[in-house]
Amino acid sequence: MRRRSWALALALMGTSVVPAMAQDLKSPTAGDYVPRLGDIMGAAQTRHQKLWLAGKAQNWELAAYELRQLKASLVEAALLYSGIPVSNVTTLEAPLQSASDAISAKDGRKFAKAVGDLTEGCNSCHRSMNRSFVVMRVPTDQRPYGNQQFSPQGRP
Ligand code: HEC
Repeated sequence: MRRRSWALALALMGTSVVPAMAQDLKSPTAGDYVPRLGDIMGAAQTRHQKLWLAGKAQNWELAAYELRQLKASLVEAALLYSGIPVSNVTTLEAPLQSASDAISAKDGRKFAKAVGDLTEGCNSCHRSMNRSFVVMRVPTDQRPYGNQQFSPQGRP
């Protein structure tokens, strides 16, 4: 593994939040399978929505879990796809940390702000990588894909 990638992964994850459990559950046959970037992002989308819903419901334990899963998806994307600029991932560090702090403090207001900033981070990377048509938003309800905007940009 490239040194740059590990440094990035550690910066993003923080040493305390590496999901040891996920390692334990890894299938021994999964070895060489490399998920497509779009598939990693699909997982990130699910976690992003569940993170929000768990926080709204003040299920902080679940929110903490979904946040770890979301971070793991972003780290995976950065490790596997070297074309992704490091800075696009590291700018998410601050909102991810804020979300984590808000969850620890069980602070709904701080949590809402952090998820808003995080969502903006998703979109700024999409814009910079010619995917400005993939527009994430803070979910408005529990509908599947409620955290994505499907109408063309500029229209409600
Ligand atoms: C470092 C850059 C980067 C960040 C950060 C990022 N994405 Fe993405 N995302 C991409 C790229 C590049 C694609 C296009 C992948 C492709 O074309 O296969 C994408 C595609 C997607 C898609 C479309 C997948 C599909 O198949 O329909 C979704 C949904 C998505 N991202 C969600 C998110 C969410 C949610 C976040 C924030 C939590 C996020 N992304 C953060 C780079 C990023």
